Amino acid sequence: MQTVHDVAPLRAQVRAWRGRGETVGFVPTMGNLHQGHESLVRLALARADHVVVSVFVNPTQFGPSEDFSRYPRSLPADQALLSGVGCDLLFAPEVATMYPHGADHTAVVHVPDLTSVLEGEFRPGHFDGVATVVCKLLHMVHPDLAVFGQKDYQQLKVVEYLVRDLCLPVQIMAAPICRADDGLALSSRNQYLSATERARAPVVHETLLQMRDWLAAGHAPSVVERAATTRLRRAGLVPDYAVVRRASDLGVPEASERDGLVALIAAHLGQTRLIDNLTLG
Ligand code: PAF
Repeated sequence: MQTVHDVAPLRAQVRAWRGRGETVGFVPTMGNLHQGHESLVRLALARADHVVVSVFVNPTQFGPSEDFSRYPRSLPADQALLSGVGCDLLFAPEVATMYPHGADHTAVVHVPDLTSVLEGEFRPGHFDGVATVVCKLLHMVHPDLAVFGQKDYQQLKVVEYLVRDLCLPVQIMAAPICRADDGLALSSRNQYLSATERARAPVVHETLLQMRDWLAAGHAPSVVERAATTRLRRAGLVPDYAVVRRASDLGVPEASERDGLVALIAAHLGQTRLIDNLTLG
């Protein structure tokens, strides 16, 4: 596996593959890779001849009080995991490569509507940072397809929207959530959890399953949301939201709507913010 830090060698390699009629899959990441990322790479490898993975901790998607400086960085371990799984090329750019005018002076890609709710409400500006860096990465890599995890459900919707709206010539693929045996969705941030918190964390997934069952039993989404919030609080978490939304556009469903829904939770457990979701029906 090659590792490159600049755009020119990345483009040269991708151009050579595409020139031979070979397809390129892309998996953007912020590094600190785990089994969840591995499953994204495997999906890309199953659908494309070559796979490029980027590792870039993107400063513009972190708020001022968020964990940008302490976000775990582990490039050597990431390289080992990626070459083990069969990735062809790792792109690990510096901030100056991604933001030549500086991260505070970048042109910004803003996706409307979708980005002002849920994560957008609790992390203002987050999705501008995500949309901007994803757009840049797609222009740099020029893949045929790009894989995004369904764990960041709203991010996936934002990316689908921007690709459609800006006519980017890439197919977006959603990869299923990878979970630990007890149901906790895998995330780089799980390593912030203490042993006691880690033991309590599966309650997020359990609550999503409970939300699904409550809806199936005929309860209205608003009732389910209140009950889920109470359940999380009783388990010692501080929920930002526990909601049922339309899976297509994250709109609020009618009381009787049951098809094409998704349950989403964001909750604090100690210093760690966990997010998870479950598509329903
Ligand atoms: O999901 C992530 O790891 C990041 O938000 C992404 C898509 C790599 C953009 O920085």
